[in-house]
Amino acid sequence: MLTRRLFTAGLTSLFVLALASSGCGKKSDEIPVGAYLSLSGSDSTFGTDTRDGIELAVEETNAAGGIKGRKVKVLYEDDKSTTQEASQKVRQLIDRDKVVAILGEVASSRSLAGGLIANTSKVPMVTPSSTAVEVTKGREWVFRTCFTDDAQGEVAAKFVKNEMKKNKVGVFYAAQDTYSSGLARSFKDEFKKLGGEIVVDKGYQKGETNYTTYLNELKAAGPEVIFVPNYYNEMVQIARQAKQVGLDGSRFVGGDGWDSANLIEGAGAELEGAYFTNHYAPDVPWPNSKKFLAAFQGKYKHEPSSLSAQGYDAAMLLFDAIGRATEVTPEAIRKALAETKDFQGATGTMSMDADRNANKPIVVVQIKGKKFVYATQVMAH
Ligand code: PHE
Repeated sequence: MLTRRLFTAGLTSLFVLALASSGCGKKSDEIPVGAYLSLSGSDSTFGTDTRDGIELAVEETNAAGGIKGRKVKVLYEDDKSTTQEASQKVRQLIDRDKVVAILGEVASSRSLAGGLIANTSKVPMVTPSSTAVEVTKGREWVFRTCFTDDAQGEVAAKFVKNEMKKNKVGVFYAAQDTYSSGLARSFKDEFKKLGGEIVVDKGYQKGETNYTTYLNELKAAGPEVIFVPNYYNEMVQIARQAKQVGLDGSRFVGGDGWDSANLIEGAGAELEGAYFTNHYAPDVPWPNSKKFLAAFQGKYKHEPSSLSAQGYDAAMLLFDAIGRATEVTPEAIRKALAETKDFQGATGTMSMDADRNANKPIVVVQIKGKKFVYATQVMAH
């Protein structure tokens, strides 16, 4: 009896082995791509919205026959909105899962951490939305499908000075955050160059919950506009507390970090009339965006955020590069990514420049009636 059982077990494992090596399971034939995102933690809508966009791209690509006749498989890892987990997850995806390329992150601080691992491991990474200049700088294996904060800060400053016609501006930002402080810096540089005056300049501690003292100081300086380049979770608190100290929300101008349905839910009324620079808005007047909007709404039954559109574009651009690559290896994919020209995305037409940044228009969005509404678009340089 015992021997017979052993014999059967032996046969079964032999059979499983044979199946696996013949590739019958088809699994081994899929192209493995990794994605590390903030699927939980303080910036969770960044991660989950981005994943929704990537999923749509995977679905469309596989339905159309995959890439080089193979299906693409995206393996998702949650970094819980922390830089430490971001590094660990990228290492896992490379060492354990042997991915050929990586998508992620959204927040610049985490793309910096994860990008270091991808770059030293020589596996190409494409961040959909990290705008801080340092993210791709000197890193041959790190690409982005968005503009940089040099461009974004410049556009925001020009908009405030030339379109809103304001000259006295305050700046309020998360002092230790790569994205927030970098964008504040590029805004200030450009605004001063244009002849404007920065009447108050304040950095706050990331994770702060009571901003009243700061807000009173900002108010006392009498700025016509306050530029606050931070993330939505902190902005909700700031906008609510600003109202209490008598600072009108329409005086605030922000950056792409404001893009979240949670901003509208939490402080849509307080921020009525405020503007921010972004990658996308559901009503941008671009043909490719309309196609994406319809497909996204069909699948998820709600409008896509900028993050979803960016996730979709980063994945589509990467899949396009894998398709053009001479073989499905990290090195060949890196080369194809660098050669990307006039890729038609939902967030605009983009080409990779020599520094691995996408050249594309910047959208200005206004908060109106608890909605993000397209106001205008500007090409940065
Ligand atoms: N640009 C932000 C960063 O670099 C991330 C972000 C992009 C947030 C788009 C919201 C929308 O950290």
